[in-house]
Amino acid sequence: MVPPASREPRAPRRPPGTASAVLRFMAGSLAAVLVIVVGGFFALRTVTLDEAKRDTKERVIGEGRLVQFAGLSDGLLRGDPKAIAKLDDVVQSQILGRSIVRVKVWTRDARILYSDEPRLIGRRFTLGDEEQELFTTGGAEAELSDLSEPENVYERPQGELLEAHTRVRLPDGTPVLFEIYQRFSSVTASGERILGTLAPPLIGGLVVLLLFQVPLAWSLARRLRRGHEEREGLLTAAIDASSQERRRIAADLHDGAVQDLAGVAFGLAPLAEEARRAGDAERASALDDSVGRLRQGVRDLRTLLVQIHPPTVAATGLHAALTDLLSPLHAAGIATELEVDDAVAAGTRHDELLYRAAREAVRNAREHASPSTVRVHARTTDAGGVSLVVADDGSGSTPAQRQGRRAEGHLGLQLIDDLVRQAGGTSTLDSVPGRGTTLTLELPA
Ligand SMILES: Nc1ncnc2c1ncn2[C@@H]1O[C@H](COP(=O)(O)OP(=O)(O)OP(=O)(O)O)[C@@H](O)[C@H]1O
Ligand SMILES: [Mg+2]
Repeated sequence: MVPPASREPRAPRRPPGTASAVLRFMAGSLAAVLVIVVGGFFALRTVTLDEAKRDTKERVIGEGRLVQFAGLSDGLLRGDPKAIAKLDDVVQSQILGRSIVRVKVWTRDARILYSDEPRLIGRRFTLGDEEQELFTTGGAEAELSDLSEPENVYERPQGELLEAHTRVRLPDGTPVLFEIYQRFSSVTASGERILGTLAPPLIGGLVVLLLFQVPLAWSLARRLRRGHEEREGLLTAAIDASSQERRRIAADLHDGAVQDLAGVAFGLAPLAEEARRAGDAERASALDDSVGRLRQGVRDLRTLLVQIHPPTVAATGLHAALTDLLSPLHAAGIATELEVDDAVAAGTRHDELLYRAAREAVRNAREHASPSTVRVHARTTDAGGVSLVVADDGSGSTPAQRQGRRAEGHLGLQLIDDLVRQAGGTSTLDSVPGRGTTLTLELPA
């Protein structure tokens, strides 16, 4: 039933309901939109941060030049109030504003020579490696401020800040580090504006696209479902048509050839008697022989009739049909066991298919396996479908044997497998040489 290489049952191919298919499609699309929005937000944030750092770096270089030129004097190193006042004047009037909120000037050993926040002047903290390097290399660097650092205790209320450092020199040539703190929001305002302008039409567009796809998805899912139903209808029609055809052939045979042959046998029998009475023993025995063969022929034809047109499952019910199917096995000395769930016995749309499969499996057991027992079980499954198991304890077979037979045109199992799959079900053949064979079918509700 299954191709020899595999024993796993194939998954039944039933399309999901239209609404659930469309819902799944919508959920998938929404997830995609979400990924785009969140990804876009983070990408934009990275770009704005880079932009802000560059801007702050340029700022610190510019302001550093101004301070070196107009604000720094040698007295700063000694904490001379006049020097501090001079620098403070420049810082307060030309640097501090809405965007730059703090200024610090550091010595190499991390002492604050000047800040517009007087409580910081003279205090010592630590400088990072990058800042230390600036004393020798010059240049500038910028980064997001870590407001939990002790040196930033007075900046905390300002919110998110970028800090940038650059090296400047006192008039006597001593290098010091000039630091500014710039408000992040003042540099990112343009990024936020871009986001604010682009986001609504972008998200709106995606949502509209999604909504436009719903009817399309709906109609696709419906078409898929209709195709599935049509296929099922065709299958049922095919089974019906073949049953009808067999019924017609059986009726023709029964009313034609069988009746004729029975009539001929009936007519010939007295002739043999007459010949015997006339002393023509040779003719009598020839006629007897012919009559005997005719009768045997009629018996064979009747057996054939039952095979091509078994008493219909629909008329007798599956249980009775299976009982009839198994009864010849008793005569052959094979024990049988039949179990049919009440729900299955009450009739399902798969009766005809179940009977055909059971008939093929039982015939195979008889022809190929020499079993001592054959079991047939038909039950409802947890999923509400029907399962059929036909098991024998006969000789079993190998995949290679089955494949060989199939190549020779013996298609009994293959045909059943095709029918079962067309009906959306699965079939599995388990066969162990010397141990027996089990055929299992599962058909959907
Ligand atoms: N119950 C079984 N016990 C042992 N061998 C089996 C059994 N069922 C099938 N086989 C093996 O599988 C082969 C294929 O079976 P299948 O029903 O497809 O063809 P077939 O019975 O040989 O011919 P057909 O059914 O076309 O008259 C058989 O020839 C046999 O070797
Ligand atoms: Mg067969």
